[in-house]
Amino acid sequence: MPSDTGSESETFWENHYARLDARWGTTPNDLLVDLVTAHETTPGTALDLGCGHGGDALWLAARGWQVTAVDVSATALARVDAAASAAGLAGRVRTSRHDVTQTFPDGTFDLVSACYFHTPLEIPREQVLRRAARAVAPDGLLIVVEHGSVAPWSWQAGQDVRFPTPDQVLASLDLDQGWEALRCDAPERAATGPQGQRATVTDIAVVARRRGTPARS
Ligand SMILES: C[S@@+](CC[C@H](N)C(=O)[O-])C[C@H]1O[C@@H](n2cnc3c(N)ncnc32)[C@H](O)[C@@H]1O
Repeated sequence: MPSDTGSESETFWENHYARLDARWGTTPNDLLVDLVTAHETTPGTALDLGCGHGGDALWLAARGWQVTAVDVSATALARVDAAASAAGLAGRVRTSRHDVTQTFPDGTFDLVSACYFHTPLEIPREQVLRRAARAVAPDGLLIVVEHGSVAPWSWQAGQDVRFPTPDQVLASLDLDQGWEALRCDAPERAATGPQGQRATVTDIAVVARRRGTPARS
């Protein structure tokens, strides 16, 4: 695991997780479940970018994926490790701490997932997501799920937030001809906040598959 990043992101997200109930975010995102179920082939290696408390990473591991769960918060990752051990999934979930604006896990993955990789801090977010796309192995899947509306319990509640369209999110990833876009839309879902509040929210879903290396003739 890399040493302390000392970054503003680390300070912010450490404070966030120190205050957050450890049970929040331990179940998978509904949309991630739908997207993986619809598009996955054989489970392989997966990178969960900004994994938080690891709901997605643990769900993927339970389905047979070998997951690298990355976050800038050591507190969040310690909770993921504990949950993975408790679920008998420690062998399938490897946590790795990075401020992904500074360092990024090595290698390529059959699935790279960035679910709600949002932060109130100014970071080069599009660059990070393009770096994430480059970490997808041939024939692998890239899943980007973003907020497309402001939930009443969001830090952005009450602000005039402009969201990109799904096409703009896809375009920002700068994927070339070596990719096939499988999904690019803005579904709605019923969501539950940290205090049990209920609301209908909009997500942005982008799924793309990196084409495999063409067979030699
Ligand atoms: C809005 S939360 C989403 C968490 C999780 N993916 C989910 O769907 O519940 C964003 C996550 O990204 C992480 N994060 C934010 N900036 C980061 C950075 N620069 N490097 C690595 N992780 C970061 C945060 O610690 C946090 O866990």
